[in-house]
Formats: sequence, C-alpha cells, structure tokens
Amino acid sequence: MSSASKPVKIAPSVLASDFGKLADEIKAVSLAGADWIHLDAMDGRFVPNLTFGPPVIKAVREITDVYFDAHLMIEDPDVILEDFASAGVQGITVHVEVCTHLNRTLSRIRELGCRAGVAINPATGVDSLAHCLHLIDLILVMTVNPGFGGQAFIPEMLPKIEQVATMIGNRDIQLQVDGGITAKTAPLVRQAGANNLVAGSAIFGAKEGYSEAIAALRQACSAFPVKQL
Ligand code: DX5
Ligand code: ZN
Repeated sequence: MSSASKPVKIAPSVLASDFGKLADEIKAVSLAGADWIHLDAMDGRFVPNLTFGPPVIKAVREITDVYFDAHLMIEDPDVILEDFASAGVQGITVHVEVCTHLNRTLSRIRELGCRAGVAINPATGVDSLAHCLHLIDLILVMTVNPGFGGQAFIPEMLPKIEQVATMIGNRDIQLQVDGGITAKTAPLVRQAGANNLVAGSAIFGAKEGYSEAIAALRQACSAFPVKQL
C-alpha cells in the first residue's frame, strides 16, 4: 500500500501542550481521537531547546494505551535508545544528520522492540535513506527546522514529500510530516503523499476543543484527492 493510500494518522505533539498538566493533556488528546502521541525530546545541542526525556515519558506512559512516538532531536541518540524503549515508547525516530552509522542505529531500535524512524531536516536530502529502507518503519520529513513549535510551514518541502512517497512505494513505511501542520497545510502534505501528520499548535492551541481540532485535520485531508502512485 503506498503512503498516499494509507489511512491518515494524526499525532498531536505535546510540545505545544501545557507541561504543567502533561498527564491530563495526553489523556485529553487520547480521548479526543489522537492516533499517536508525538513526544519531542530535545537536548539543547542538536536543537536550541530542551524538553524532556525517558523519566518524564515513563511517568505519563500509564495514562493511555495510545502509541507513543518519540522524536529524538538529540546529538548522540545511540546512548539513550534503550532508556526510551524502557520508558514504553512504541516508536523511536532519530535524525539522519547525527547518525554516522544509520543502519546500526535503526537495527538497534528494532532490537529494542520499537519501530524505527528516520527524520530529515529541511536542508537534508533523501539519498542517504535509500540503502536502508528495509530497516525503516517511518520517514519523517521535517516541514520546519526543528526546535520549536508554532513555526511556519516550509512549502518547498512538498516536492521532497513526493520524492519520499515515491521512494517508499508499496513498502510498509509511514510517511510523517512535522512542523506548521494546520487545516490549511494538511491537504497539501496529504496530496504530496504524507499519511502521518504531527501537529502541535493546531491541536493544543486550538480555540475549539481537541476533538474538533483533530477532526478538522482529518476532514481537511479527506477533502483532497488521494494521489495514486
Ligand atoms: C518541532 C517539533 C514539532 C513541533 C511542531 O521541532 O518536532 O513536533 O511540536 O509544532 P507545530 O505543529 O506547532 O509546528
Ligand atoms: Zn516532532
């Protein structure tokens, strides 16, 4: 099944939630229809921001059974993969820009019982992924430069999403996008081939409720034709 014909998954990013009541926020978006919970771990080095790591994830794990999707914006992910897996995440995504031995890192994530994801920054090409597609469960095309929520979507990423969709073909690989996803940009990325949409501000910052915001993203995707690859 090509990525464009896979059902859309909506993954609220808790980066935009109220960290003072993180557990309640995760529970609320889970009940509001989130398919996945997107957890942005930042180390203050790979990106100029710091968030949380395995101990915090472990503390909120018991709140819901919803899939925990960890996005590691961390310079040396290898040393902490096991801790994320033990904290109970189902998916771990690392950035290709910091993985000198990408095959090894992806294999390790799978050995730990998690699904293996690779993220690519806006300035990064897709070529380095071609040789290890058999080890990849998710490709994350960053549609902003990582580090902060609430940034504007970079439209030049649309051809890259199409390129990744073509590369994925019929493989069982999620095509995720992250950054500036709103009801306006969702149809564009969906049309380009994305099937897994991360959204922070568009959900946690929505004036209406979380259910309405998630439903609006789904609706925005369904309004546009699915591209046949
Ligand atoms: C940015 C993070 C995103 C962020 C997206 O570095 O990876 O997950 O929360 O936020 P929005 O949806 O507000 O652009
Ligand atoms: Zn993210």
